Amino acid sequence: MAMRPTAVELAARLAEDLGLMMCDEPLAGTSRFVIEVDDRGLALRDCQRPGLRALRVRDLPRHRAVTGRGLLGRALGKRSHSVMDATAGFGSDAIHCAELGLEVIAIERSPVVCALLKDRIQGLPLDETRLRLSVKSGDSRQWLVELPPPDVVYIDPMFPGKENASAKPSKAQQLLRALVGKDSDAVEVLQLACRRARHRVVVKRPRHAPPLTGEVHHQVLGRTVRYDVYLAGQ
Ligand SMILES: C[S@@+](CC[C@H](N)C(=O)[O-])C[C@H]1O[C@@H](n2cnc3c(N)ncnc32)[C@H](O)[C@@H]1O
Repeated sequence: MAMRPTAVELAARLAEDLGLMMCDEPLAGTSRFVIEVDDRGLALRDCQRPGLRALRVRDLPRHRAVTGRGLLGRALGKRSHSVMDATAGFGSDAIHCAELGLEVIAIERSPVVCALLKDRIQGLPLDETRLRLSVKSGDSRQWLVELPPPDVVYIDPMFPGKENASAKPSKAQQLLRALVGKDSDAVEVLQLACRRARHRVVVKRPRHAPPLTGEVHHQVLGRTVRYDVYLAGQ
């Protein structure tokens, strides 16, 4: 008979993997963030904002309308079957890509964010969407070189605060930004992605921000965001 590990066992394993201290209660002044583990999975608490409930990534909403004619579907292109999400974060876009029917490899370099992402995916119903998703920890610049080229590389670097001033970031986005800071190497990821992707590279940008770099082939425009499409090999 197989027994599921208890929350305490899971917490101990996670603490060891991430090199974190395990405790029953957050110890005052030791750390801004705490990962809470219980039978329902992981949650991230910001100890600097005691009034704020811990973020349970499993409860983050999924995209509502999932059709190939939506913004992301159009940006990914009809002929695409595989995508590497080079900046996975909490995985909303990666899950969206899998719901659209693509095989997805989601890469996240922050070990804490990656643990939360894996937990979110584990919490999905065991259906075709979940089976199409895999997660790798580490820097996508390394994985882009090591893995077979995907049809599409998808990049969603942290929005620079000022450009996104019109839209208030969600609690999840605020926590992510506080945890990982700026993505100052996004241009490097994009340039490498353009050399490695088989078909195209898609970059998510705030609607009115300038392109990350280089010559954009075409854009898919939304109300607050935009997808810049670069064709591979250009
Ligand atoms: C804006 S968030 C992505 C949000 C994500 N698209 C979603 O739907 O939840 C950017 C994430 O990319 C990660 N990241 C940035 N550069 C990376 C790199 N070179 N390799 C792996 N992860 C990276 C950051 O740690 C951060 O978690």
